[in-house]
Amino acid sequence: MKKLIAANWKMHKTYKEAVDFINDFLKEDSIDFEKKDILIYPPFLYVCEVLRLLEKTPIKVGAQNAYFEKKGAFTGEISPVMIKSCKAEYVLLGHSERRHIFKESDELIRKKVISSLEEGLRVMLCVGEALEERESSLTFKVVESQLKLALAGLKDYANMIEIAYEPVWAIGTGKSASPEDASKVHSFIKDILKDILGSNTRVLYGGSVNPKNAKEFLTQEHIDGLLVGGASLEVKSFLDIINAY
Ligand code: 13P
Repeated sequence: MKKLIAANWKMHKTYKEAVDFINDFLKEDSIDFEKKDILIYPPFLYVCEVLRLLEKTPIKVGAQNAYFEKKGAFTGEISPVMIKSCKAEYVLLGHSERRHIFKESDELIRKKVISSLEEGLRVMLCVGEALEERESSLTFKVVESQLKLALAGLKDYANMIEIAYEPVWAIGTGKSASPEDASKVHSFIKDILKDILGSNTRVLYGGSVNPKNAKEFLTQEHIDGLLVGGASLEVKSFLDIINAY
């Protein structure tokens, strides 16, 4: 399976910093696009401009979130229709920061998933357990429940869905999961996905990925890519991760 390396910039970068990043990134010609797909999730405000700058490249662009309604009086929200109208291909949903800081429920995430798929966006759904859940040996239960609640009944869209496994305790902490442990969870996720979607879906790992540990993750049998936060903010470290494998 072709690996997918994705950058989640979260709420980082001014407009100029975003444009400079893309221009610097485009000066590099070291990426083997036959071997991997590259995807960037800039903050909403810059999605259209980043797309324009990357128009003639194979690099894909996505939005970090979406509301489920198509349009209306929802001040501050962005709909899948709007994202699609900018020609972005992807949307990231269910990120742990959305679940925990903004209290998004599984039910809300499911509505966002359905609405985005209906608009023709590729959905990257994030799942992952919190530290207390891991310590209570609930990792597999939590992940299974998040997957089922978001995706049950969506078989028709199976080829539009990707998963990012991001253990909450590993995000932004410098404490990544061990590649072997992550791979076990990925294998479990793939079994669940075969049940509910009937498909062989790419499953990315996210949580304190850096240029030093990227290769170890990417060489695990069940890890099909990486979702990178902090280490995707600088061109050099993002490229080092991309080229680690
Ligand atoms: P870090 O790579 O900064 O740990 O963030 C991971 C993440 O949340 C990507 O979506």
